[in-house]
Amino acid sequence: MEHYFTSNLEDYNHSFESGTIRYESPSNIALVKYWGKHPVQIPANPSISFTLDKCKTTTSLTFYKRKQFGFCITVDGQNKASFEPKITVFFELIMDYLPFIRTFYFEIETSNTFPHSSGIASSASGLSALALCLCRLEQKLNPKITNQELQKKASFIARLGSGSACRSIYGGIVAWGQSEIQSDCSNYWGTSVDNIHPVFHNYQDTILLVDKGKKEVSSSVGHGMMNQHPYATARFKQANANILALKTVIEEGDLNSFVEIVETEALALHAMMMTSRPYFMLFKPNTVEIIHSVWQFRKRSNVNLAVTLDAGANVHLLYPASQKEDVLNLINTELIGFCENGQYICDNIGNGPMLLNEAYA
Ligand code: PMV
Repeated sequence: MEHYFTSNLEDYNHSFESGTIRYESPSNIALVKYWGKHPVQIPANPSISFTLDKCKTTTSLTFYKRKQFGFCITVDGQNKASFEPKITVFFELIMDYLPFIRTFYFEIETSNTFPHSSGIASSASGLSALALCLCRLEQKLNPKITNQELQKKASFIARLGSGSACRSIYGGIVAWGQSEIQSDCSNYWGTSVDNIHPVFHNYQDTILLVDKGKKEVSSSVGHGMMNQHPYATARFKQANANILALKTVIEEGDLNSFVEIVETEALALHAMMMTSRPYFMLFKPNTVEIIHSVWQFRKRSNVNLAVTLDAGANVHLLYPASQKEDVLNLINTELIGFCENGQYICDNIGNGPMLLNEAYA
């Protein structure tokens, strides 16, 4: 067991019979991608992301003191038995770090602001929201825990549910994984990146919904394929170099280099998928159409519009707020036809999660 953040039942000097804690927590989009991991949820390379603002999950955790642990989960008011195995594994992984869990029954109610099957992964926002609810409950049981410790532990706990979720605990730009960009970077939790050039303070992410279906290959299977991947060493080296270069770009606001690094990363992520055994491809013809249209647009305009992709077919368009009008015009004249039902989501860099309300009895 990782020695960080263990607690003992004796550390808890407050007690509650029941209560509710509600957090909202955002999704994030990686600029340097995490792809490949070692047990338990240790990234094979460092990553860095923008925390989003509008794509988020709201989670209510209602708890009742019991002799035995148990839980149920609803998503948008519907019982979700299909989520139970993943959440069961998550609780098993975190039980020793949050030992009070063994003495409670939990009702987890969760809902997303983005359409349910939009192809936008809800694991980063969902697991970060749940981790925050649990760590807030621990802080109420042991008020010696500071808010800063709560945040760090929530990032550590969220990571055990979904690696990228550890980056959603903080607003702005967040790094995760050992690297030289900042002395406080860690494989175990996310870290807020400082010295950000003002152009990034309100950077835009417009998400073009190309394919709203469920992913054919899950991220965990994809990460696993990096263990035997012929290009793994080169890929991890590339990610390390890209995160170092990007840190300077973020400080200096060098948008040409930003576009180049971000697009290299998106294509490298998908190149890894296409050269895995078994190989697979998550982007669709319309993903490629959009990328080519953006590249043509860049040739004829001065707009610093970058394309990035997650592990799916949707396209994230990243650009400075000052160029929003030009980009929305491009979307509505050229790109909207490539989106499923013409749908896209206008998001931007956000401030991170928020405690919405809480009650204890
Ligand atoms: O957090 P996971 O296990 O769902 O993996 C996420 C991987 C990518 O979204 C493709 C990249 C990233 O760094 O977010």
